[in-house]
Amino acid sequence: MVRNNRKSAKVLASVLAASLAFGSIGYAAPIPAEYGKSSYSQDQKIVARVNAERAIEHIRYLSEEIGTRPGGLENEKKSAEYIADTLKSYGYDVEFQYFPVADQYIGSVAFPDGTLWEMGAAPNGSISDTAVKAEVVYVENNDFTNVEDKIVLLARASTLAGYRQQVADAVNAGAAGVILQSLVGSRGNYGQTFSPSLTEQYNIPVFGASYIHGEWLKEKMEDGAAELSLTSKHYSDLKSVNVIATKEAKTKTEDTKEVILGAHHDSVVGAPGANDNASGVGLMLELARVYQGYNTDKTLKFIAFGSEERGLLGARYYVDQLTQEQKDQIEAVFVPDMVATNYDKATNLYAMTPDGSQNIVTDSTGKAGARLGNSDILPGKFGSSDHVPFHNAGIPAALFIWMGIDSWDPLVYHIEKVYHTPQDTIEENISADRMQSALDIIGSGLFDVVRKETPGNN
Ligand code: BES
Ligand code: ZN
Repeated sequence: MVRNNRKSAKVLASVLAASLAFGSIGYAAPIPAEYGKSSYSQDQKIVARVNAERAIEHIRYLSEEIGTRPGGLENEKKSAEYIADTLKSYGYDVEFQYFPVADQYIGSVAFPDGTLWEMGAAPNGSISDTAVKAEVVYVENNDFTNVEDKIVLLARASTLAGYRQQVADAVNAGAAGVILQSLVGSRGNYGQTFSPSLTEQYNIPVFGASYIHGEWLKEKMEDGAAELSLTSKHYSDLKSVNVIATKEAKTKTEDTKEVILGAHHDSVVGAPGANDNASGVGLMLELARVYQGYNTDKTLKFIAFGSEERGLLGARYYVDQLTQEQKDQIEAVFVPDMVATNYDKATNLYAMTPDGSQNIVTDSTGKAGARLGNSDILPGKFGSSDHVPFHNAGIPAALFIWMGIDSWDPLVYHIEKVYHTPQDTIEENISADRMQSALDIIGSGLFDVVRKETPGNN
């Protein structure tokens, strides 16, 4: 378990010590302005109450009880239901916002012991829903001599033309199915599942496995013959969903500003998405629980965005349906995405904007970190998440994410290797301490913004 007040108690002690040592004899106390009493005690309203274990319980439900949550599919709807029910239980008004998303081809791999793996699949012509059962063999050096009626596992060629040829060769050799193993990912992570983008509609299942799926499968084959059952499905007429909860300002006028805390709740195909991004949702829900006890001077919206992994679709849809007047009302957007990894090289919680500029979101959380004596938070430059559509619409927004950035080369950054893979689980990728730090910093920074006209002032 994680403490609630470890860091804050330490800061309080040093503030007290500093004012005892210097304050009474007329020295300027070496305390930053942000330590202003009122802000600091406001922070305690949040820091003393937010609890990483509660946030992790939400991660558990989303990543284990539900599992993978690809945009537009059933599990994403289950996730939306869970988030809505939780927010309602805290007393918020909640609405669902649906939007259309493109078809998905999904492969499911069933083992004799009942284990199921989810992968991407190629367009599957007439075989949607048909299970193909066969032994799996590993093919090296594109040698397809003994693959008739077998499921072929092979390392994916690096180009589309290359793996198209591999699949054609396997089909010609009479394979019963093909599993292409992903390459190691472009971000130094393990490769994720993918949908082989083939225009041919083969009448055998053709799947795109994550790199680790391939490694696991090879291990199983070493233990003895592995029989698999492959089913590929074509899902069409899909709808994805944003969940929106509103906490109205204590007194509302025409000029009342709005602040958003928004996290995507979908995951990539095959990944339980514990850190990416059940962690952001867990943080949001835990802050929603704590904020419910306080009045705010601004309207606060908690939003779970759908289909972020499919191209920031939920956040884009949300921004696109706002009028200019509604956009102008939004003062700040806080986007937690990957806020609890245990990866040791992800040393800081970055507040990132797409162009590296600083804004009310990066400033308020930076100051909160300083007040709390928590040096985890740093500003940075990064896109790739739901803050981008808001930023592009001229709305101040920032992404919060744990990573490591080498000071000598800001283009080299470290994120966990298991990101976007079946290993993005609580066990392999979640730290309660990192979650607690993110809750403290984002919770205090955001609270400072919503509770008064001029954040940072007392
Ligand atoms: N959580 C990631 C964003 C991310 C990834 C930040 C790696 C930092 C390092 C997010 O869910 C994601 O994967 N985004 C997509 C965006 C794309 C679909 C527009 C990405 O970056 O591939
Ligand atoms: Zn994400």
